[in-house]
Amino acid sequence: MTYCNYDFLFKILLIGDSGVGKSSVLLRFTDEFYMDSYISTIGVDFKIRSVGIDDKNVKLQIWDTAGQERFRTITRSYYRGTKGIILVYDITNRDSFQNIKEWLQEIENYGNSNVCKMIIGNKCDCEDERQVKAEEGEELAKQLGVQFLETSAKTNCNVEESFLQMARTIK
Ligand code: GTP
Ligand code: MG
Repeated sequence: MTYCNYDFLFKILLIGDSGVGKSSVLLRFTDEFYMDSYISTIGVDFKIRSVGIDDKNVKLQIWDTAGQERFRTITRSYYRGTKGIILVYDITNRDSFQNIKEWLQEIENYGNSNVCKMIIGNKCDCEDERQVKAEEGEELAKQLGVQFLETSAKTNCNVEESFLQMARTIK
């Protein structure tokens, strides 16, 4: 009987504007669940899921932060000690994409200099309401030398892939 049955433990942080779908993406990944109603995150929360990577058992401890400005001081205190940060925007909301630059600045100011970053453009099921082209997300990620995927928590598109890519990059 083993209680500590993992080879690695990675701490990953989700950041981005309020309403982009950070909690939804996480809930989809850890609980295979999605809901249309919006319950804005208060402060910080975390969930855990283990994944297998190259025959290693990797435990992902994923911290979900509040996008709302009033929680900024609390969420900043979670940047340090984090191996990977996933920056999330909403493809139907150009402001949330523009603000990725602000979030990168937060990482600069409060994160470790060697932290792994990844960008995801969520809600890719909403093609009719799209305001940000996939190429724009790709271009930004390329400039920064980080990985990029468009996801949908609703249709479960690329959610698993995003966390696995992040875990592989950290490893
Ligand atoms: P804060 O906690 O306030 O920072 O917001 P958040 O980024 O955690 O957003 P949340 O996951 O709570 O989602 C906000 C709203 O967007 C909810 O109504 C979700 O149902 C919806 N939503 C999230 N992901 C998707 C998606 O992939 N597609 C669609 N169509 N809606 C989504
Ligand atoms: Mg949330």
